[in-house]
Amino acid sequence: MCGIVGYVGSKEAYPIIIKGLRRLEYRGYDSAGVAIGNNSGISQLKQKGKVADLEAYAADKDSSGSIGIGHTRWATHGVPNQVNAHPHMSGDGKLSIIHNGIIENYASIKTALQAKGHTFKSDTDTEVLIHLIEDIKNHEKVSLFEAVRIALAEVIGAYAIVVMEEGLNNEFIAARKGSPIVIGVGRDEYYIASDATPIIEYTNEVVYLEDGEIARVNSGEELEIKTIENESKTPYIHELELSLDTIEKGGFPHFMLKEIYEQPKSILDTLRGRINPETKEVKLGGISDYEQKIMNADRIIIVACGTSWHAGLIGEYLFEDFARIPVEVEYASEFRYRNPIIRETDVVLAISQSGETADTLAALELAKEKGATILGICNVVGSSIPRLTHAGSYTHAGPEIGVASTKAFTTQVVVLTLMALGIGKEKGTLSNTDYHQLITELELIHEKVEKVLKTNDQIEEIAKEFKDVSNFLYLGRGYNFPVALEGALKLKEISYIHAEGYPAAEMKHGPIALIDDEMPIVVIATKKGNYEKVVSNIQEVKARGGRLIAIVTEGDKTVKELADYCIEIPNCFEELTPLLTNIPLQLLSYHIALMRGCNVDQPRNLAKSVTVE
Ligand code: G6P
Repeated sequence: MCGIVGYVGSKEAYPIIIKGLRRLEYRGYDSAGVAIGNNSGISQLKQKGKVADLEAYAADKDSSGSIGIGHTRWATHGVPNQVNAHPHMSGDGKLSIIHNGIIENYASIKTALQAKGHTFKSDTDTEVLIHLIEDIKNHEKVSLFEAVRIALAEVIGAYAIVVMEEGLNNEFIAARKGSPIVIGVGRDEYYIASDATPIIEYTNEVVYLEDGEIARVNSGEELEIKTIENESKTPYIHELELSLDTIEKGGFPHFMLKEIYEQPKSILDTLRGRINPETKEVKLGGISDYEQKIMNADRIIIVACGTSWHAGLIGEYLFEDFARIPVEVEYASEFRYRNPIIRETDVVLAISQSGETADTLAALELAKEKGATILGICNVVGSSIPRLTHAGSYTHAGPEIGVASTKAFTTQVVVLTLMALGIGKEKGTLSNTDYHQLITELELIHEKVEKVLKTNDQIEEIAKEFKDVSNFLYLGRGYNFPVALEGALKLKEISYIHAEGYPAAEMKHGPIALIDDEMPIVVIATKKGNYEKVVSNIQEVKARGGRLIAIVTEGDKTVKELADYCIEIPNCFEELTPLLTNIPLQLLSYHIALMRGCNVDQPRNLAKSVTVE
């Protein structure tokens, strides 16, 4: 949610910042801006729209200077326009700020500043913050570093900010609370960004700022880090393991398609080293110290949002089936606000691709406060959730840049499967035979995923037929009910077609009223998994003229006779089918969205990392 980037050193800052903004555009893309410092002062260039619009606007303007900050926005306060775009300036035009997050008490700060004579140009909370810093700096006659620290002590909310000052051409100040900041350490230069993707082509040495920390980033000096409470901290340099090709399209027209096709590899990467080749035992190093806690848990509460919540629902089936532990799957946003009953014997498991989702983080904080064991399944290494939890497992999907989540979902399901299998075996709730058969299937599932990806051309043809409809219904049962939800979410996210997912049997209790000969219905009808019952549901759809796209097990004859289109997936244990059935639905959304002329990687109004409530 909003991408921030900055550079200070001896190179030209503008091209580095623009490139960085393009890499961070997945975080928000309704307006963008830069502030560049040189001997004539700070010049700000801002534009509504995407980074490309900013570049076109800036083309004939002076953008020279070796210090700068940039921002790509997902609007919270104020409509997306040029005035509300970041950076924002102080009243005297000497300070410039970029900000990701929300200042909750901005209204009261604004009123107090207005009483002192400050006037504001934009509707943003960010402009209020930079005026507050200016006010403190001028009245208390302190450095920018100190003024930022004092200001932040007054602020309630979440933020990642970078502030620069006119005439201070080798230094900016950065701070974080609840929103990520990574500082790239070069030779006499520093890079700064919301995540490491704009940094990795320049340096693999980074410092992750912690919550409540403020950094003085001066190109000629060591990093200086303090807490808001004025306690000095020693920066810890991490080695990045990312490589540049993981964040580029690599010949694919879109990140989303690239990421769909990466799934066999990301599944393998997620499994790598976690199944003992001889004993076939599962070893999830990150949670091994907590295995007993999980085994003896009264309940596992899974908290997540969006696609990760759907993965959590599959987790519920897996844990209950294999490990016989009761599971509740909660929308993090509901859970945190409804005075939930949390006991010390509960394990609360957060699932999050970004590791930054504000509601999921807050739900975990609440659970920790109440004494539960808190665990995480995240993709982004070093993000906030893994830093908060007692233990956890990474998904190793690699960077996911398309806003619609694909490979992150699949790998979340892989980790959940590993956890549930491992605990089930340890507890003895899963027979040895079942365990070994499932593990063997899981180890080879990437081959079946490869096979499912070969249905791409067939799915493209189906997409042509349905690209102009206004509604879609997705049905599934058991393990494939969450897949139906995820399929519907994917379609609405990127094609803007209204789509709903339902447990197939629930169709009779409402959605059946929508079915006519215009309505496409996607049914997941793989063998086992209440197959006969799903066939009955299919017949009910047919009887009302609905157009059917079915995902079936290869060799299926019954559904083939009923459905208008059938997409075959290889035979597989029911418990692992979501890893396969999900893929045609991702491809269907992709092709339909493309044919409708939608921006597949950056769908309107959405952002990949939702760091506000
Ligand atoms: C946003 C994204 C979704 C994602 C959800 C949860 O809404 O657009 O794709 O599923 O956030 O994100 P997380 O990073 O916590 O998995």
